[in-house]
Amino acid sequence: MPDEKTLSAYEKAAEQGIDPRCIPKKLEGHVPVDDQISYPKYSESDQETWRFLYERQMQYLPERVCDEYLRGSVKLNFTSERIPSLKNLSAIFKKATGWKIAKVPGLIHEQDFFELLRKRIFPSTDYIRGKNELDYTPAPDLFHDMFGHMPLLTDPDFALFYRLFGEVAFNAKGIQRKWLETFHWFTVEFGLIKKKEGIRIYGAGIISSLGEVQHALSDDVEVKDFNVDKLINQTYDVWHLQPVLFAIESFEQLEKEFRKWSKSEGLFK
Ligand SMILES: [Fe+2]
Repeated sequence: MPDEKTLSAYEKAAEQGIDPRCIPKKLEGHVPVDDQISYPKYSESDQETWRFLYERQMQYLPERVCDEYLRGSVKLNFTSERIPSLKNLSAIFKKATGWKIAKVPGLIHEQDFFELLRKRIFPSTDYIRGKNELDYTPAPDLFHDMFGHMPLLTDPDFALFYRLFGEVAFNAKGIQRKWLETFHWFTVEFGLIKKKEGIRIYGAGIISSLGEVQHALSDDVEVKDFNVDKLINQTYDVWHLQPVLFAIESFEQLEKEFRKWSKSEGLFK
């Protein structure tokens, strides 16, 4: 029986039955960035999982997702054929918006996450979920990180906002941290955007989830107008489909309103 005191937080959580993938890890040592990232030896089963998830999600996305996302996925040369390479994606980002990609081992500590974002580096995993978790996985995998998040990072307005978010979140203290977590949830992960053709999805948490992509634009969801003060006080439950979502007017509005709020909180000059 191992001594309780010698167990890491990771091991303790595993003993308590919490999925260890849900415990954020502090980044230690060298994190490969951009052209330092090598392509893993994916098994045929991994490639099959990507193909399956990609094709399944693409049946739902075209009429539901914003055009900035679809344009981004074309820029990134996403296809169902093969899991993309982080190194190649990073090269495309550099040209499009000046961002790069870092390969991280899983969910990372929030301060590490913000530190990377403010340097215009997007942390991504490079492993894919198992066949027993096709519909749901509690922690990020490459399908969420690449397919869900990356296309929008080729959009200059969204990329500008996301760098600002990293900068502001890095400086946040106390209750501000909780507000920013909520802000991230209702924008980057679960955001909607108003378009002339109707409301569209831009949040990665919806885009990479079969249940959410079918649910987010249905009558079961109350869509509220974007307002930073209302949004940061909205409660949410990470384990169920979201009953309340917020719709922005544009990515410029998202950036402008967030900047204004951050200044009023003394988080940005
Ligand atoms: Fe995410």
